[in-house]
Amino acid sequence: MTGKTAIVTGAARGIGLATTKLFLEEGRRVAMIDRDADTLREAAADLDDVLPVICDVSFPDQVDDMARQVENTFGRIDALVNNAGVADFGPIEQTDFERWRTVMATNLDGVFLCSQRLIPALKEARGAIVNIASISGLRASTLRIAYGTSKAAVIHLTQQQAAELGEFGVRANCVAPGPVNTKLALAVHTPEIRSAYHDAIPLNRYGSEQEIAEAVVFLASDKASYVTGQLLSVDGGFQSTGIGLPALRS
Ligand SMILES: NC(=O)c1ccc[n+]([C@@H]2O[C@H](COP(=O)([O-])OP(=O)(O)OC[C@H]3O[C@@H](n4cnc5c(N)ncnc54)[C@H](O)[C@@H]3O)[C@@H](O)[C@H]2O)c1
Repeated sequence: MTGKTAIVTGAARGIGLATTKLFLEEGRRVAMIDRDADTLREAAADLDDVLPVICDVSFPDQVDDMARQVENTFGRIDALVNNAGVADFGPIEQTDFERWRTVMATNLDGVFLCSQRLIPALKEARGAIVNIASISGLRASTLRIAYGTSKAAVIHLTQQQAAELGEFGVRANCVAPGPVNTKLALAVHTPEIRSAYHDAIPLNRYGSEQEIAEAVVFLASDKASYVTGQLLSVDGGFQSTGIGLPALRS
C-alpha cells in the first residue's frame, strides 16, 4: 500500500471499474462511487481496499454525503476521477429539455459538484483531478447534441480547474476516450455508427477499458507531476485524422 487514495465515479462497471482495478494494482485505496447499487456491490465484492459508496453525482446532497463518508474513512484524497457518464443519442428536434437535462445533470453537473466538494481535501493532499470527456466533445457529429456538448463543456471545465487550482498544487487533466465496447457504447452505437468509427480510426478498432484506464492512472500519478490543464485523447488516432482514411486502406 502506498497510503494514497483515489475516488472513481461510475466505478461499478466499464472504464470506471478498469480504472479502479489499476489504482488498486498501484497500491491505492479506492472509493468506488456509483448510483447502481446492485452492480456496485457485485463489482466491489471481489476487491480488497475499496470503499463502495452509492451516490448519484448529479445531486449536491448525495455528493456531500459521499464526500464526508470517503473523507472520514480514508482521511485523505489524492485523486478524483470524474468518470460517471450517460449517453443518449438523438436528433436535435427530438432532444427535449428533459433528455438534455438528464445528460447535462450527470456529465457536466456531476463533474462540477464532485470536484467542488472535494477541493479542500485535494488541496490538502496536493492531489489530482482527471475528468473523462469524449472524442464527441472534440469533433461534432450527428445525434450528439446533448452528449457532445456536455463533453465539450467538461474539456473546458478541466482547463478552468487547472487555471484556478494550480497554485494550490492541484492538477486537473482530461481524457477523451474514443469508442470502447462498454454497456454505454453498446446502447447507442448502431451498426452504422460502429462502421463509421472503424472507417475513421487509424488503429481500426475500438479501444479497451484498460487502455483508457492506463491514461487516467498516469495523469493522476506523480509521473505527470508537471502536467495540468491538458486533454489526452485515447482514441486510436481518431482526433488527429481528416478525410480519406478508408480510401487509403487496401
Ligand atoms: N464507452 C465509450 O465508447 C466511451 C467513449 C467516450 C467517452 N466515454 C465516457 O467514459 C465514461 C465511462 O463510460 P463507460 O463506457 O464505462 O460507461 P458505462 O455505462 O459502462 O459505465 C458508467 C457507470 O457510471 C454510472 N453512472 C451513470 N450516471 C451516474 C450518476 N449520475 N451518478 C453515479 N453513477 C452514475 C453507471 O451506473 C455506470 O456504472 C463516461 O463518462 C462516458 O461518457 C465512454
